[in-house]
Amino acid sequence: MIFGRVKPLDAILETAKKKSLHRSLGAFQLTMLGIGAIIGTGIFVLTAEAAQKAGPGMMLSFIIAACVCGVAAFCYAEMAAMVPVSGSAYTYSYAVMGELVAWMVGWALILEYAVAASAVSVGWSGYVVGLIEHLTGSHLPASVLVFTKGPFNGGIINLPAAFIALLIMSLLIRGTKESATASAILVVIKITALSLFIFLAIPAMKMENFHPFAPLGFSGISAAAASIFFAYVGFDAVSTAAEETKDPQRNMPIGLVGSLAICTLFYMLVSAGVIGGVGAQPVFDAAHQHALPAGSSEMAAACSTLKDSHVVCSNEALAWSLRKIGWNKVGNLIALAAGFALPSVILMMIFGQTRIFFVMSRDGLLPGFFAKVHPRFKTPYIVTVMTGLAVATFSAFFPVGILADISNAGTLFAFAMVAIAVLVLRHTDPKRHRPFKTPCVYLIAPLAALGCLYLFVSLPLMTLKMFFGWTVVGLVVYFLYGYRHSNIARNISDDEEA
Ligand code: ALA
Repeated sequence: MIFGRVKPLDAILETAKKKSLHRSLGAFQLTMLGIGAIIGTGIFVLTAEAAQKAGPGMMLSFIIAACVCGVAAFCYAEMAAMVPVSGSAYTYSYAVMGELVAWMVGWALILEYAVAASAVSVGWSGYVVGLIEHLTGSHLPASVLVFTKGPFNGGIINLPAAFIALLIMSLLIRGTKESATASAILVVIKITALSLFIFLAIPAMKMENFHPFAPLGFSGISAAAASIFFAYVGFDAVSTAAEETKDPQRNMPIGLVGSLAICTLFYMLVSAGVIGGVGAQPVFDAAHQHALPAGSSEMAAACSTLKDSHVVCSNEALAWSLRKIGWNKVGNLIALAAGFALPSVILMMIFGQTRIFFVMSRDGLLPGFFAKVHPRFKTPYIVTVMTGLAVATFSAFFPVGILADISNAGTLFAFAMVAIAVLVLRHTDPKRHRPFKTPCVYLIAPLAALGCLYLFVSLPLMTLKMFFGWTVVGLVVYFLYGYRHSNIARNISDDEEA
């Protein structure tokens, strides 16, 4: 009767009260944390990939992905305000749909957070290596370059990516408050960089660059939306900080919806600037029959002959675009800003991951030592170290596009589950006090679930296969461990477990 293994909401809230982490974050800090987690590799790096998949139509892709995140954010906000405890989608699913679904969601969230952190680490590495080359005015020798790229990109190991992941891990072990302050400074750098980009690129827009608008039709726009969804991933990481938030009933919805709205505005203006400023048509094969697959070896070969003339070939889309329209130095500054700022995204992702592991361990689904808190820093240091090591390993060996797509699959699954959980709970527990209610919930929540499904099936087939493989591994782990060890299975309360 695993579907009957539901953890009552009141018990969850009670446990959180007794075992809570220190509450130090307010609405402003949460919004900043949200922006810190959202703006990153998606806009700075993957814009080029989206352009290859959709051409100027990627503007629609940004809008589609934003709409799906927007409706999902309302569902998140309802849950996060009502259940202000760590664990995000995992915790909500446990309360509403039972242990098995919760485990699957928690397992999928590993893709969302840890794999996304790896993707951003790889993006960071690309910018930093490129910047070093620009500033020194010379190319790194091939014998060094192989240590800056994973095997899929013709290298051996991506050491800078692994390095930044480990650095962030050590920062997080020292504590949330310091990390949040550092993150806030980096958020300011990111916003300044994007504002500067918009300010310079928009006046250089040429309307003819928007034609043809959708060279690959609506399927191209959908494929780009599924990938560029990554640019919005992270707003829900705010909800994983619920246990460390002051007055979460008020501050959570502000943090979630506010950070998403601000980022959407920036993305629309930035993508318009890229398309209008330098053009964003895909690269086709020699016979002009089909667009080359983004991130493929054919694409890399085509780009090497095109010699720096298409934004879709660039690893640093925004810096490249500015240089192209004549702002060389500012282009370098944008690259520098990305190099400084992307780590704030890695930080939020690893943070979110550790808090989810922490709660899953507290529930007995993972071994108890995962939840151990550092005696001096008061942080869950064991899971932080484990997550940091995993993130560093993934980022050392895999390319950014693949990591981002895999992360999207896990995220879309979790978002859909939250939307369903909101609906189910409205039905099963209509009287419960909801500090924030999703407006028109019977429209918004199904739209969120369907939107996630639409983006999910628009992902590359290989990504979907990997996601299902990961889910099967998760189920095996659950039936070997969590099924017997969870607090509910052993019929013990969280207090006894403590
Ligand atoms: N949204 C985050 C990024 O684009 C994950 O890097």
